[in-house]
Amino acid sequence: MNFANNTLALLGVSALVAACSTAPSTTTKVTYDNGIRQLVDKRCAECHGSDAPSMEAFKKDQEGYKAKKLGPRMDTYENIMVMVNGSDTGAMMRRLDDGANTKDNQPGNMHKYLGKDDAERAANLALFKNWVGGWNLKRAKDITEEERKSVLAPRN
Ligand code: HEC
Repeated sequence: MNFANNTLALLGVSALVAACSTAPSTTTKVTYDNGIRQLVDKRCAECHGSDAPSMEAFKKDQEGYKAKKLGPRMDTYENIMVMVNGSDTGAMMRRLDDGANTKDNQPGNMHKYLGKDDAERAANLALFKNWVGGWNLKRAKDITEEERKSVLAPRN
């Protein structure tokens, strides 16, 4: 191998190392603190930030908030969990799914906000799925105890 080839090989290895250290692989444990909070801040906070209504307030005037492009607040772990595993169980999964698990095979209506192109949306959906664990679109009244237990969504 000549010098140029060695340098290229070295560059390849360092690029790989860099990629591994920034992008959590499917085996890395994704938590709210190490990935989801930043993702929500970046892609969802415009309409689900600290100036958005609590879930309780949102439910009282859904049409009014919708007109103002505001959805329920997702500014804290607790507020997000309402839509993962709380009073609105599965809402996060129903809205973000790419169509693989929805009844009509259409993506949930918040899927488009996951990224600016297909690749970014797919990567961020994978991150969400990895975080949630048992990806389940069922509502509180339909989900089984077993299925609920598989929803992990760790804080840290
Ligand atoms: C441009 C504004 C906007 C952005 C950006 C946005 N949303 Fe929404 N979202 C809304 C509005 C408005 C609603 C309420 C209307 C509806 O249910 O579709 C909503 C509703 C939701 C709901 C259903 C809440 C419930 O329980 O009824 C979820 C879950 C959700 N969004 C998740 C997200 C996630 C996650 C992101 C970021 C990836 C995101 N949204 C980005 C405007 C937005």
